[in-house]
Amino acid sequence: MYKVTKRIMEGKPITPAQNSSNLSTSSESDEQVLQIWGGQPLKGHVKISGAKNSALVLMAGSLLCPDDCRLRNVPGLADVARMRQILAAVGVKLQQNGDVLDINASNLIDAQAPYELVSQLRASFFIIGPLLARLGFAKVPLPGGCAIGARPVELHVRGLQALGAEVHIDHGTVHAYVKGPNRRLKGAKIYLDYPSVGATETLMMAATLAEGETVIENAAQEPEVADLANFCRAMGANIQGAGTNTIVISGVPRLHAVDYSIIPDRIEAGTFLVAGAITHSEISLSPVIPDHLTAVIAKLKTIGATIIAESPDILRIVPGQTHSATDIETLPYPGFPTDMQAQFMALLTLSNGDSLIKETVFENRLRHVAELNRMGADIRVKGNVAIVRGVARLSGAPVVATDLRASAALVLAGLAADGVTTISSLHHLDRGYEQLEVKLQKLGANLRRVKEGTEPMIAEAPVNPVRSGLNC
Ligand code: EPZ
Repeated sequence: MYKVTKRIMEGKPITPAQNSSNLSTSSESDEQVLQIWGGQPLKGHVKISGAKNSALVLMAGSLLCPDDCRLRNVPGLADVARMRQILAAVGVKLQQNGDVLDINASNLIDAQAPYELVSQLRASFFIIGPLLARLGFAKVPLPGGCAIGARPVELHVRGLQALGAEVHIDHGTVHAYVKGPNRRLKGAKIYLDYPSVGATETLMMAATLAEGETVIENAAQEPEVADLANFCRAMGANIQGAGTNTIVISGVPRLHAVDYSIIPDRIEAGTFLVAGAITHSEISLSPVIPDHLTAVIAKLKTIGATIIAESPDILRIVPGQTHSATDIETLPYPGFPTDMQAQFMALLTLSNGDSLIKETVFENRLRHVAELNRMGADIRVKGNVAIVRGVARLSGAPVVATDLRASAALVLAGLAADGVTTISSLHHLDRGYEQLEVKLQKLGANLRRVKEGTEPMIAEAPVNPVRSGLNC
């Protein structure tokens, strides 16, 4: 629910320099490692944070509004801290108090985000649509690729051109501007060759202030797209069909202040459900929107776990005695989410039988396989397909995180492995999980974040060692 409020900005604004949060910086994260003593059963309840992939795009969407925006349930993540820096760099005033973020974009001083910030956070490219809609021009460095793929943005660019923007790329920066006296984008009918989440969000934001109607066909249907649409509607935008494959936006001249709460993070929730399954523990989690996890819940039930909806926003997982193998193909929503592929693979390394995992969304998102195999998993990769043969147990080992969701997979594997797992390159994990190790400690997991090189903790063997996935 949201209520429109007209508020005066409290407190001092955050400037780019000051905008450090209490989060570890990338270099600090990389000087630390996670040590996990596996085999410890979990119990209790875990609180799920606001959705990273909503928070980032809603922060960009606040650029559309010349009044105060208040975002609630904002997760404390490195990526959110970086997005705050990006917004501050173009003149946005920000004030964060806990999980409440106050944003005022009434006085934009520039339409160019600095390369050194954009290159660290792909999601910063989301500002191009709102800047173009608000100011009639934008200069945003190309975000470049990352560990999981090339991450091109041609669908964003072609869509903005369809809306009447002149767009060219020069020296790695996208220059976009709108011709004409009022420098206003014009509604258009756009078909996306691929239901890209980012392109759908960029074009939906740009179209909110365009002249006339825009139709986006073959749009992404992810819950974060619907959350963005609800946020924009709360600011007075006219958007229909978000969450389906056809979105219709009727442009309005101006948006207004808003107070909006971000949806819970479905990928964090899915990660904790897998934590319960892989450690053969019964845990509950909230808040959660079960409809956002249909594919993940279906797969957990297929392999033998039970998922109980204790209330509309509380889920409980009851693990199976053992878990069977299953096949997974990642697909755009509502298909099985690519952001849960690595975590589910960790679980399937201990399931009975052979599982086939096909990654269809990103071209390089199987880099966690090598690290899981170092822990005793039996996984073979051919192109974008991994064959996972269940083993009786994993063994703790020093491993290196390669990307955000691979980090989560290694944590999950470490929770179930015999002995100590040491995970380095934690900056990946800190991008997308809020205090993951604290939440796991509260569930009884035996892990700690220490300085690289610290001798593994000598913890007593777990009281009730977790049974392996197989009858051994
Ligand atoms: C969003 O990325 C998420 N990030 C990703 O989450 C998520 O994995 C992805 O959607 C798919 O669900 C944020 O929301 C910040 P896409 P996005 O555009 O928008 C290709 C995580 O772990 N493509 O749907 O970049 C692209 O290369 C992150 O939280 C083009 O070819 O995803 C990819 O192969 C990782 N041209 C596929 O489409 C384009 O112009 C899906 O990309 C755009 C995309």
